[in-house]
Amino acid sequence: MSSSINLEEDKYNLIFPEVLANPYPTYRRILLEEPVYWSDFLGGWYLMRYQDVAAAMQDKRMSAKRPPISKLPELEQQNIFPLLETLSKWMLFCDPPEHTRLRGLFNKAFTPSIISSMAEKIQALVDELIDGVYERGNIDILHDLAYPMPAIVIAQMLGANDEDREQFKKWSSDLARFFGMFRMNTEILTSAKNSILEMKEYFRIILEERRCQPQDDLISNLIFAQEKENSLDDEEIISNCVFLTFAGHETTTNLIANGLLALLENPSQMQLLKDKPSLITTAVEEFLRYDSPVQRQARIAVTDLEIGGKKISQGQRVFLVIGAANRDPEQFLNPDKLDITRPENPHLAFGKGTHFCLGASLGRLEAQISIKTVIKRLGSLRLNTNQIEWHENPSLRGMKSMPVAFNP
Ligand code: HEM
Repeated sequence: MSSSINLEEDKYNLIFPEVLANPYPTYRRILLEEPVYWSDFLGGWYLMRYQDVAAAMQDKRMSAKRPPISKLPELEQQNIFPLLETLSKWMLFCDPPEHTRLRGLFNKAFTPSIISSMAEKIQALVDELIDGVYERGNIDILHDLAYPMPAIVIAQMLGANDEDREQFKKWSSDLARFFGMFRMNTEILTSAKNSILEMKEYFRIILEERRCQPQDDLISNLIFAQEKENSLDDEEIISNCVFLTFAGHETTTNLIANGLLALLENPSQMQLLKDKPSLITTAVEEFLRYDSPVQRQARIAVTDLEIGGKKISQGQRVFLVIGAANRDPEQFLNPDKLDITRPENPHLAFGKGTHFCLGASLGRLEAQISIKTVIKRLGSLRLNTNQIEWHENPSLRGMKSMPVAFNP
């Protein structure tokens, strides 16, 4: 993080490391004092209320086409042009009708029957990763399980080689740092640009190979759709494969680790899940709500509009703070309490409306299998550190590592 940042410029200190480590008390303060909050320093409006965030996610006056970072000097914009150009093709950053066309083609790989047919493979992978560390009596939940499992699954779906996962990890964390960047930082920008160029080259080679020799994977299916419907160009396929690689694990990794941490910090809930493993479905929904892996998403107002009595001008950036909305007492009873049996849980952790997470069923399945298996096989699980370190990233919430011990 750049040392030139004056952290005091933001009234609520939203990007102070100690606030990022536990943002929820600060979210509550803003929710009570100024639920539609403008921060000059952070370059946008912050929506904290559940109703406002849910409405904004479905509001056609809010465009998903946003520069990933505001206030970038012209020279830097030119330097990272290849990065910005690739991002502009991600479905996440497109509005209809481009969005509808892209999403429609990728949708075919994420049907409920395709996802549920992956359960056995995911279970075998989780068991294999745990087997690899079992005798040791300790595991780093992030490095040994929650990172590699979803990275392998998405690599296999795309037709990439899962042995390249260390490479994926570097590319992906460079992108995560870029999305969490809140002020100009040339080193972060350059690494993200280089990583995206390398990823594109990687997928370009696979695309050429599959064009000559199709296989049973997503890229081969997209080439088929491209030839049949002439509705997708190579750049769009490659850019969205880069996106899926990133979206497919950076979030699921944190869902698994944040969920297990929530259980370790709430022993009665851990015991309940041990006694009744069938609660895993509602438990994962609660982890998504309680400590959301994606804390905020941005939009750009395409016209002047008003939210909660505040005037938002055309072109201004609006942050939809999912992490705050999911703890809004107007929507959730005892929002700060972890309740794995919570009967009504319409959380916004996967978004809502047009951009609702394409991989939601896959992410849910991966988290359910991983958490259930960890609890079953490593029953005496306990944290092996007094100090949890969080990534200093206001968008993607995750720990740097999560060492735990257990009795084999
Ligand atoms: C399990 C944890 C996950 C969480 C919390 C999560 C969260 C989200 C959120 C909040 C959005 C909406 C963004 C917006 O409204 O601007 C989103 C979109 C998306 N996610 Fe996920 N995601 C997860 C897993 C996955 C997985 C496993 C995949 C793919 C394999 C995936 C692929 C996508 C895609 C493609 C979009 C863009 C959809 C669109 O723009 O139409 N996600 N995700």
